[in-house]
Amino acid sequence: LHVAVLMGGWSAEREVSLSSGNGVADALEKNGHKVARVDMDRNVAQILTALRPDVVFNALHGVPGEDGSVQGMLDLMQIPYTHSGMVTSVIAIDKELTKQQLVPAGIPMPKGKVVSSASLYEADPMPRPYVLKPVNEGSSVGVAIVTDDSNYGYPIGRDVAGPWQEFDELLAEPFIKGRELTTAVVGGKALCVTELKTAQGFYDYAAKYTEGLTQHVCPAEIPEDIEKLCLDYALRAHQVLGCKGTSRTDFRWDDELGAAGLFVLETNTQPGMTPLSLVPEQARQMGISYEQLVELIVREAL
Ligand code: DAL
Ligand code: MG
Repeated sequence: LHVAVLMGGWSAEREVSLSSGNGVADALEKNGHKVARVDMDRNVAQILTALRPDVVFNALHGVPGEDGSVQGMLDLMQIPYTHSGMVTSVIAIDKELTKQQLVPAGIPMPKGKVVSSASLYEADPMPRPYVLKPVNEGSSVGVAIVTDDSNYGYPIGRDVAGPWQEFDELLAEPFIKGRELTTAVVGGKALCVTELKTAQGFYDYAAKYTEGLTQHVCPAEIPEDIEKLCLDYALRAHQVLGCKGTSRTDFRWDDELGAAGLFVLETNTQPGMTPLSLVPEQARQMGISYEQLVELIVREAL
């Protein structure tokens, strides 16, 4: 096949996407495909028109590669592409819209509140501790955990700049103490559960992409009922949202509360494919090599 790998772009996750995209492109070449690596700029439609690929491997993260925009463009150009389609992407990139789909389907998620960042100069949107995050970013970009002793000051914006200040609108959610879990879906099956153990702070951008900062326990050492729930919720989220190719659903689990303490945070439709990423790691655990994983995702797009 002639595969164009779309990567890079201009989101905050540009570097992550370049790492995902180059890994994917190497694997596709090993699998015998003819590969074009496309660092996406605003001429992407012209570039693809000239390339005439059989399929696009979408290795973009964030906006506009993960929010339906690129998907809509590829629909219009009638070029098959990997991962989720336009409508699914529009919903899944937005953590609040995702809730509107998943909560009625019986998937527990923390009850959030969308607030303007300006309002944070006046008052806390909910009792501390809570999490502030942009509704549509990935890789923990812009995420802050606001606790009683965090140095954001009170009212929180007044004295110390936080990562959230760059965004007009933010999602506030109660902070769920406890553990960080994640489950990938590939080939219509939930793979397994990984626990992320971060030495300091939380599983933020640095902890995600710096080797050695986070221990990945795969499969997670958790009770069987929690493992089953993670697999079930991840697969159900994938199905309810209408994901394709692969997705990865992230959880927080307050282990003092048992099953009642398990919450889905979000479903990622363009999960990372970097050397430290979780989907390839879970696939390997299940006996699927990186090259086989990439091939599975491409085949589902045709
Ligand atoms: N947003 C990053 C790439 C992930 O979900 O893995
Ligand atoms: Mg995400």
